Amino acid sequence: MDRSEAKERIEELREEIEEHNYRYYVLDDPTITDREYDRLLRELEELEEEYPEFRTDISPTQRVGASPADEFESGEHRTPMLSLSNAFEEREITEFRDRVQRKLGTEDELTYIAEPKLDGLAIELIYENGELSEGLTRGDGRTGEVVTRNIKTIRSIPLKLRSDGGEVPSLLEVRGEVYMEKGSFQKMNERRAEEGKDLFANPRNAAAGSLRQLDPSVTAKRPLNAFFYDTGVVEGREFTTQEELLNYFPDIGLRVNPYAEKCQGIKEAKEVYSKLEKKREEIPYEIDGIVIKVNDFNLREELGAKTRSPRWAIAYKFPPERAKTRIKDIEVGVGRTGALTPVAKLEPVEIKGATISRASLHNQDEIDEKDVRIGDTVIIQRAGDVIPEVIKPITEERTGDEEKFQLPDHCPVCGEPVKRPEGDAIHRCVNISCPARIKEAIKHFGSKAAADIEGLGDKLVDKLVEEGLVESIADLYRLDRKEIANLERMGEKSAENLLNALEESKEISFSRLIYALGIRHVGEHLANVLSRNFADFEGLKEAKKEELTSINEIGPEVGDSIVNFLANDSNLKLIEQLDKVGVKYEREAREDEKILDGTRFVFTGQLDDYTRSEAEDLVERLGGRATSSVSSLTDYLVAGENPGSKYEEAQEEGTEIINEEQFKELIQH
Ligand code: IVH
Repeated sequence: MDRSEAKERIEELREEIEEHNYRYYVLDDPTITDREYDRLLRELEELEEEYPEFRTDISPTQRVGASPADEFESGEHRTPMLSLSNAFEEREITEFRDRVQRKLGTEDELTYIAEPKLDGLAIELIYENGELSEGLTRGDGRTGEVVTRNIKTIRSIPLKLRSDGGEVPSLLEVRGEVYMEKGSFQKMNERRAEEGKDLFANPRNAAAGSLRQLDPSVTAKRPLNAFFYDTGVVEGREFTTQEELLNYFPDIGLRVNPYAEKCQGIKEAKEVYSKLEKKREEIPYEIDGIVIKVNDFNLREELGAKTRSPRWAIAYKFPPERAKTRIKDIEVGVGRTGALTPVAKLEPVEIKGATISRASLHNQDEIDEKDVRIGDTVIIQRAGDVIPEVIKPITEERTGDEEKFQLPDHCPVCGEPVKRPEGDAIHRCVNISCPARIKEAIKHFGSKAAADIEGLGDKLVDKLVEEGLVESIADLYRLDRKEIANLERMGEKSAENLLNALEESKEISFSRLIYALGIRHVGEHLANVLSRNFADFEGLKEAKKEELTSINEIGPEVGDSIVNFLANDSNLKLIEQLDKVGVKYEREAREDEKILDGTRFVFTGQLDDYTRSEAEDLVERLGGRATSSVSSLTDYLVAGENPGSKYEEAQEEGTEIINEEQFKELIQH
């Protein structure tokens, strides 16, 4: 290929790649597989490498993120980015309509566009002659931060506008919202927790934190996306309605929200509100209300704006997920690991249709930091399905009768001393025969992913322990039919079923049994890892911390936890007792199957025949190692559909990249 052919091919590739981006992100209708997409991108990268003179800022290769900056420059918005006035009640929406009509001197209902109010962060992108030249955050509305390089890493944002058949505007400032999906946010936080990093409080913070990264390669790895709903200055094109704008944006490659609706009169807008409020949970990103906008731009002009917000639009917010209530008392729960958790008992209050009467206070440090006291009026918040949290006390509403709270120095259940290990935020009851701990330990033991004892519900466990029938996990297997049948709300039939379930649970895999014991920090995955590396508890008991931590996924903290657990007499006794009552565990892999022998794999994207954890388990069962991030030690990256940033990382590291077929060949499956 000569120079001019290369140039031609480069341009062709850029166009093709952006076309596929558009199909994938805007139309949600990809025509090639991710692998094919990556092949194109790689070819482009190689050509740009070979012919650096053809590099440009708006090449799709620039989406991986440039080098870090010291600080963001600030940039002025040519026209200010206004905010919206808020309404919380239907009456206020009627008033909005009346105001608008009065100002326009009309009795006729207008046409509105109702759109979800996206809970992300507002941005402005500037396209000059169709090319993305600048991206700005909203900032204070007049001046924002220049985040162009970060914006470019968001694949759904076109670097070059498509042509809708005609000329693209010579200048187009578009405004919209960058956000992170709820699921991606959750996953990202889980990963961060594993890595011991600070968690983001909500998807909006995560999106903002990700976009405002001085190192664009960090942004590139974050699952950000964007919707567009407004313009700033436009030259070379005229829009007359919001409807026209929303129809036009996708034609030039800009995503618009699919829930936007045209409404004839305000009543229809109110209907959109009710509809979206019901749908809210199932929408994959957070919305906190709807925005009702006058459709006609001439009318908008007539209506004008107040200092901070236009008169032609209003945000109709969903009822807050936060609520104000009073802390009646603070109770202390004791968990399986002996952790003492302060829980606020609240005057019942409703959030999003659920009555909330308890909220977590996490630990003593949290209580001290927030200065939460018994009797305080507080703001609580319910985010998604998680346990509601106390956000802060309203100190202005204190009467002086509030009481500070201190976790007890003796366990509220067993009365034994409570300890707080150095460097740990958690107070713990260290008595392993504490009834509270026993209950929780038994519940965990019987849970689905552990010994899976059907019919052993929480209430029954509480009863069994309270009645003194069960003092340890092993006692479960010593229960007799009569004892169980005599319990309140049980009977012959339930007793029989429980005994059968117990009998069945005696045959258990080694990994499930390790997990069921509830060793701190040892979840299902690590239990699996341990079961692959050790033949039995004998072997595990003999393992020194160094041996444990030499296993890739086991860090020092986990290592300590395992060693401590197995150095404890009562735990050893439990393992012995379980054996005595007939719990027999079985290892899943035999030595002779270990064909992968330490080979390290990283998976990215979706596989056809396995879930991620099935594939990882398989690797480990065959003696290999599956890790979550690519490093110089990684032997293979297995790339499925929609591979993530690991793909690029593997390319950088020079790791061998294989597909699912090749993976199957390798493991001879
Ligand atoms: S229109 C002048 N539409 O709400 C009107 N804003 O309080 C410009 N927002 O900063 C905004 N979804 O971040 C508009 N569909 C939507 C929106 C939306 C979210 C945010 C935006 C803005 C804030 C105004």
